[in-house]
Amino acid sequence: METKLNITDPETGKTLELPVRRGTRGPPVVDISRLYQDLGYFTYDPGFLSTASCSSHITFIDGEKGILLYRGYPIEQLAERSHFLEAAYLLLYGELPSVSQLTTFNSHIVHHSMINESLRSFFNGFYYDAHPMATMVGVVGSLSAFYHDSTDIHNPEHREVAALRMIAKMPTIAAASYKHSIGEPINYPKNDLSYAGNFLHMMFSRPSEDYEIDPVVEKALDLIFLLHADHEQNASTSTVRLAGSTGANPFACIASGIAALWGPAHGGANEAVLNMLHEIGRAGRIPEFIARAKNKSDPFRLMGFGHRVYKNYDPRARIVQRAYHDVLTKLGNSDDPLFELALKLEEVALKDEYFIEHKLYPNVDFYSGLIYKALGIPTNMFTVMFAIARTAGWVAQWMEMIAESEQRIGRPRQSYVGPACRQYPAAGDD
Ligand code: SDX
Repeated sequence: METKLNITDPETGKTLELPVRRGTRGPPVVDISRLYQDLGYFTYDPGFLSTASCSSHITFIDGEKGILLYRGYPIEQLAERSHFLEAAYLLLYGELPSVSQLTTFNSHIVHHSMINESLRSFFNGFYYDAHPMATMVGVVGSLSAFYHDSTDIHNPEHREVAALRMIAKMPTIAAASYKHSIGEPINYPKNDLSYAGNFLHMMFSRPSEDYEIDPVVEKALDLIFLLHADHEQNASTSTVRLAGSTGANPFACIASGIAALWGPAHGGANEAVLNMLHEIGRAGRIPEFIARAKNKSDPFRLMGFGHRVYKNYDPRARIVQRAYHDVLTKLGNSDDPLFELALKLEEVALKDEYFIEHKLYPNVDFYSGLIYKALGIPTNMFTVMFAIARTAGWVAQWMEMIAESEQRIGRPRQSYVGPACRQYPAAGDD
């Protein structure tokens, strides 16, 4: 039964019945799409704290209970029993793949993993010390110049091949961005390696010596990719959807998502966490930084803490923390002082009244930087790692948005608070 929410204009007394929709899980939504047309009001929700921008079948988050589901499957079960490419298939197509479906999907990804040879010279246009995220935005945005055969967004086959190309090429472009930044030759992908293993090969192989992929590192990296694959309508995914709603080609949309992810309030937090831990330096300085985080006149925030949706522990943070500890133990450097400092910082923050009152818990970025460091990933590549993984979610959400019958260009309104109409001074006026 459809329920309604009545809203009455206090000036005219006119009442509007707004339809209320209930999804599978999560709060009901009030459909306000006719509010302006029928009652002459806009709603006001900067930051979209109470606004659902779309309906989606892909990912569900319950921030109060710390729940994260990919197409209904709990992230804890996927982390335990699945792997990144299977999760990417699930996000894209809605169901777990059969063995043959996964084999075909993996083959598509593997055979799209090379980039056009002339793209390789694109990297040389960047100064050697360009941040790899800057390179990623530029190179990914340029892909539409190469793949005219998959930019007709109204052709489902074009959409699918563009999605596969994006998932396949992100590790190749990311590793090339890194190699360029250290002045080493760019590596080609190898078709006989796993998704994570291929990335490690492209990141760390050199012509002068063989690189042996450590299975502990490979497995941990695949898990981190899986945990970061999608996360409902976060800022970068919403950016991809908004860009896609204009009919922009998928490569340009993903480039816009990479740009949005880079911010330290979003995906850039993992790099910011490590910089923060280095700045704190030792446990004795934790109270000073906790005090700064609580000081409204200080712009400092405790990076890796807090979340717009999770008002409980981010389930991904727990999984990353456990994986991190396993990796340290298996790699034999379990006495990493930064890990000890991170654990102490978490302990102090979780006991602090301010953090308890504001429901500030560690989010996925608090430990992901530490595990990337343990896996040998350089700090300026942390957000790039996030972008590789999130591309699966971005393309899944983009495909869902394009295929949505209700889909129309996203064009928010505003509350105008600028000067009312005024006249340009006539000639001679002061
Ligand atoms: C990701 O959306 C997603 O799903 C994102 C993500 C994904 O997978 O896509 O989960 C990935 O981006 C995780 C978040 C990574 N960012 C950080 O770790 C940066 C530090 N965190 C904050 O910048 C902040 O918590 C945000 C940006 C994450 C959330 O911001 P909100 O929801 O807009 O909350 P807010 O800024 O309005 O803060 C609410 C209150 C404020 O105090 P009051 O003004 O109400 O008194 O909490 C305080 C804030 O000052 N606060 C913090 C804090 N985070 C919020 N105070 C100190 N340290 C912090 N980290």
